[in-house]
Order: sequence, then C-alpha cells, then structure tokens
Amino acid sequence: MDTLTITRPDDWHLHLRDDAALVAVLPDTARRFARAIVMPNLRPPVSTTALAAEYRGRILAAHAATPGLPPFEPLMVLYLTDNTAPDEIDRACDSGFVHAVKLYPAGATTNSDSGVTDVMRCDAALARMAERGLPLLIHGEVTDGDVDVFDREAVFIERVLRPLLARHPSLRVVFEHITTKDAAEFVAAAGDNIAATVTAHHLLMNRNALFAGGVRPHHYCLPVLKREVHRAALVEAVTSGNRRFFLGTDSAPHAKGAKETACGCAGCYTSHAGIELYAEAFDAAGALDRLEAFASFNGPDWYGLPRNASQITLRRLDWTVKASQPFADGEVLVPLRAGERVAWQLG
Ligand code: NCD
Ligand code: ZN
Repeated sequence: MDTLTITRPDDWHLHLRDDAALVAVLPDTARRFARAIVMPNLRPPVSTTALAAEYRGRILAAHAATPGLPPFEPLMVLYLTDNTAPDEIDRACDSGFVHAVKLYPAGATTNSDSGVTDVMRCDAALARMAERGLPLLIHGEVTDGDVDVFDREAVFIERVLRPLLARHPSLRVVFEHITTKDAAEFVAAAGDNIAATVTAHHLLMNRNALFAGGVRPHHYCLPVLKREVHRAALVEAVTSGNRRFFLGTDSAPHAKGAKETACGCAGCYTSHAGIELYAEAFDAAGALDRLEAFASFNGPDWYGLPRNASQITLRRLDWTVKASQPFADGEVLVPLRAGERVAWQLG
C-alpha cells in the first residue's frame, strides 16, 4: 500500500501558543487536521470561558491570515486551577465551544505554575464536570522531587488518578500523552469514561533518542521519553483496535534558543508532519489499516462529535524536513527530524 486515503483526522492535544507564534504554527495543523483540542497553558492561563472565547477568536483570525487553508475548528479547553468554581464549569458547558478542562499538576511542565496544587481542592468543580459530562484532560505526572523523572507517570496513577476516580467514578477523563506500559494497561482496563491520547514521538522514539551521539534537546518533552518496553506497549495499544486510544500530537513549539540552551524547555514540535509521523509508526507496526480509526474516528466518537466528512491522502514517499522554520519575533523553531527523512508525505 503506497497511498492511503483516510477521513481527515483531528488532533486531540495541541499547543498553538498565541500572537505571532500562533500565526506561524497554525497552518501546519490546519493543512492536516480539521479540529484540535487546544491546550490552555498560555501566560496567563486560559482559565475562564471568557478568556477561552477571546483565545478562540485569535485562533480563527490566525487561520484567516493564511489564505487557502482548509477549514479548521479550535476546540477550546479551560485551565483548571485550585479556584475554578462550579459556576465556571457551567459557563464552559453552556458556551458550546469549550470541550474540556485541563489538569496540570502545579510545576509539572511548561507554563504550569498556576496549575493545581492538590486535586482534592478541585472536588466541587470536578463533581460539576462529572454531572455535566465535561471531560477532564490530565497531565499525569507527579511533581515530587523525590520521584524519579522516568517514574512520575506510573506513580501518578496510584497516588492521584485512582483516588480521583474513586471519588468521581463517572468523570470523563483523557489521560494525556501517555508514555508508559503502566498507563496503557490502566486505560485498557478502565471503563468507557477513560481514554488516552498518544503522541507520534512517543510511538517512534525511546529514551535512547535523548542521548543519541550527544544530548538532544529537540527530543526532550514531558512526559520524557521512556524505555523501549514502554514504547512497544504504546504501539500495541494504539494498534489494538481499542477505541479509547486516539491521536494527540502534543506538538509544543519553542524557539530554537529556548531549546538549545543550558536549561532547555520541554516540548517537541511535530505539526509539520503531524499525521505523516503517525503513518510511519503504524506502517512500522504493520498496522496501517488501523490508522484511520485512531486518527479520525476514536476521538470524535469519544467526545460525542461528528466524524469529519472530508479526506486526506498520504503517500509512501520520503522527504527531508527543513532544518528550521519561522516562529515568532524573528526566531525560528526546530521541527522534529530536522534535516532528516520522514517516510510518508501528505497529498
Ligand atoms: C508542553 C509545552 O511546551 O507547552 N511541553 C511538553 O513537553 N509537552 C507542555 C505539556 O504538554 O506538558
Ligand atoms: Zn501538551
């Protein structure tokens, strides 16, 4: 199979940033994906429905700023804080454009310092979300300095996620960008209200990629890449046919200078090959026939949204990724695989 036509996919976990950066990166996503769940970790965070409405307007304006793009719908997300009130959850549900609420444990990742210090403090908001069916998207890592950085996701399941679900058994939860066998098994064994997104880079790389020939800042993201046994478990999960695993790139652009420095930011930029990299991963697993469900069906079905009506075509024809691409304020970003080959291309 050298060409593959599938229903146009959606990206269920994406960082679009804001202002000039947003204008620079949005076309990569809109060329491939019809919709995206847009992460709210701006500064200040998108913590109210009013802020989400404004951000949505800026995304639509950025989309209009590049002529000729296919239609694109941003699916907005509220940033959960210790103080999110149940009323704010009602406003989000009633808006029609807020589709989820994001839980960042405070300090877990880029722009998460306004995140939740103790999820017990959010019980009233979470109870309202469970009542109204609004999904909670979870960055599932503990932040305790005494827990090894490679173990933080597995420890989160036991310390935070299981107790949280025991308190709110009907809460709809997406365990985001899972990186471990533990998380894949947890989700597979859970009920229909629990789903997970998986990135292309966690399907394609293990933690050796962080140190291949020297330290590789462009392979550093959170949750950090894990051992091969975990990568293999993720591939198995996404190609298993389980409808509760779906595509979320976690494409997270940072300026080159913020990555290539003594204390570099976490985040891999993958939107430039946002579906092509998944095609590579599914092809390598001999499971191209499972790509469409993972990329285009499972997400909308779980969210209760219609599947897209249009299609995209992918070809098995390799191409070289640019060394860098324009970002904001005269800076560039370095996309994943910069200067290297990607085996599939769009169109
Ligand atoms: C994300 C970012 O840069 O906003 N970084 C990352 O490594 N994935 C934040 C996040 O999703 O953790
Ligand atoms: Zn993310």
